[in-house]
Amino acid sequence: MSKTVICPGSFDPVTRGHLDIITRASKMFDRVIVAVLVNSSKTPTFSIDERIQLLGETVQELSNVEIVSFDGLLAEYCRKRGVDAIVKGLRAVSDFEYEFQMAIANKKLNPKLETVFLAADADSTYLSSSMVREIGSMGGDISNFVPACVHDRIVAKLTKNG
Ligand code: PNS
Repeated sequence: MSKTVICPGSFDPVTRGHLDIITRASKMFDRVIVAVLVNSSKTPTFSIDERIQLLGETVQELSNVEIVSFDGLLAEYCRKRGVDAIVKGLRAVSDFEYEFQMAIANKKLNPKLETVFLAADADSTYLSSSMVREIGSMGGDISNFVPACVHDRIVAKLTKNG
């Protein structure tokens, strides 16, 4: 049976760590929905349109990956779209407690919804969007941290804001 999974997140902005998880999910499952959360308590640096555009360019060679935005509960969105599982990357033990809580809550809300954790690639264990924003806005080199095809646009935005 065909399996659809979702990679949800803020993607503010997309990093090489995100790309690694999305790429691996696209090889393991039939269909991958990359879902950008619209309303979160955090004020994003990149607008929803910018985040979607950067993600779209980043994954353009992965034919079974779709980029969407979503609002409200992830478990409900997954129910509407017939998603079988949430795919998340785990970078370190420090990620685990929060991710484990979310996995259980999402399963309570939608009992058919599984969560699959992928161990982050060794090169991505230290990497986060907030680190990219901080280093980039202070003029540091972020070329190892973000996908090459969107590097210049991310730098332009971060240095304009800085
Ligand atoms: O990249 P992030 O900010 O760590 O992603 C967090 C995200 C978007 C996966 C999480 O905040 C989420 O699923 N939000 C949607 C609202 C929701 O369903 N909350 C209950 C989660 S148990």
